[in-house]
Amino acid sequence: MNLELLAAQAQTCTACPLASTRTRVVFGEGHPDAKLMIIGEGPGEEEDKTGRPFVGRAGQLLDRILEAAGIARESVYITNIVKCRPPGNRVPAPDEAKTCTSLWLNKQLELIRPQIIVPLGATACELFLGEKVAITKIRGQWLEWQGIKVMPMLHPAYLLRNPARTAGSPKALTWQDIQEVKRALD
Ligand code: URA
Repeated sequence: MNLELLAAQAQTCTACPLASTRTRVVFGEGHPDAKLMIIGEGPGEEEDKTGRPFVGRAGQLLDRILEAAGIARESVYITNIVKCRPPGNRVPAPDEAKTCTSLWLNKQLELIRPQIIVPLGATACELFLGEKVAITKIRGQWLEWQGIKVMPMLHPAYLLRNPARTAGSPKALTWQDIQEVKRALD
């Protein structure tokens, strides 16, 4: 099995109800041997149209954050908890997240074997903690999941809603967190 084959299989997935409302399956993209894997919640409108993760406004902000930290997007693997857009960008239902993770994300993790995982936002962080979390409490702290270092970060969509850059603001904290990730990659 390799990532390309897995991605091809995912294109016809009908394992959960999100299959009936999606336009495109957004499997993920990036370096197959990435040291860093970034995991969001689920595709939004632009992602659903293009079939690519993090290409809308939140994705463009993510690109700027990575670039400012000196991390090339092409060196990273970027994906989501669910591969199909939840209608109206609602949070994926627990069953949808569970089904999609066991069919696709777990296999992506096995094939890529990243050294560092950055889950963005509460939905992605919950997977690595196994429980509901307050993302503002756990962001910026190294966790460990199956021998892999995990750095929870705030979701860029949250940063778009909270644009202040003052000390202690979500953007300022995210800047600290991505620099911590960069240091760990070097
Ligand atoms: N938000 C996400 O969580 N994932 C995307 O791919 C885009 C926006």
